[in-house]
Amino acid sequence: MHLPDEAATLAFGARLARQLHAGLTCYLVGDLGAGKTTLVRGLLRALGVTGRVKSPTYTLVETYELPGFELYHFDLYRMHDPREWLDAGFRDVSGRAVSLIEWPDRAAGWLAAPDVIVRLSIADDAREVECEAVSPEGARYLEMTCKPC
Ligand SMILES: Nc1ncnc2c1ncn2[C@@H]1O[C@H](COP(=O)(O)OP(=O)(O)O)[C@@H](O)[C@H]1O
Ligand SMILES: [Mg+2]
Repeated sequence: MHLPDEAATLAFGARLARQLHAGLTCYLVGDLGAGKTTLVRGLLRALGVTGRVKSPTYTLVETYELPGFELYHFDLYRMHDPREWLDAGFRDVSGRAVSLIEWPDRAAGWLAAPDVIVRLSIADDAREVECEAVSPEGARYLEMTCKPC
């Protein structure tokens, strides 16, 4: 799907927020600047988060207590050894939480398998997004959330 400007990426994030439920793990894949954090920002705003949505580039994770579930927004770009994942205690991340994970390849082998993979790419001044369901739960979620996308 074509996302002509930042507002479109935010709106797409809001769409992904609609059917989000406890336990869903979503990998966000794409180059630096592809719009991963922008998408999460749109999603969180739609879920009522009013404060500044910070990129977890330095902290590795930002946590949000939402009405139905806890949401973890990871950015693993700066993680160079997957063992840092264990050192940071992320193994204890609750399976009841929603996890949105930028740069999941940095912790390959340690992370929970995704339900959904969202791929963003840069197309001149705009962006392209596509979603892939990896689990049956992810397929149900995408079916309800964004047909077609
Ligand atoms: N659909 C879009 N078209 C053009 N620019 C966009 C679009 N979506 C986001 N952007 C811009 O691209 C940049 C993406 O930054 P960011 O979301 O931090 O990327 P990432 O987290 O993937 O590194 C931001 O400057 C944002 O305003
Ligand atoms: Mg980012």
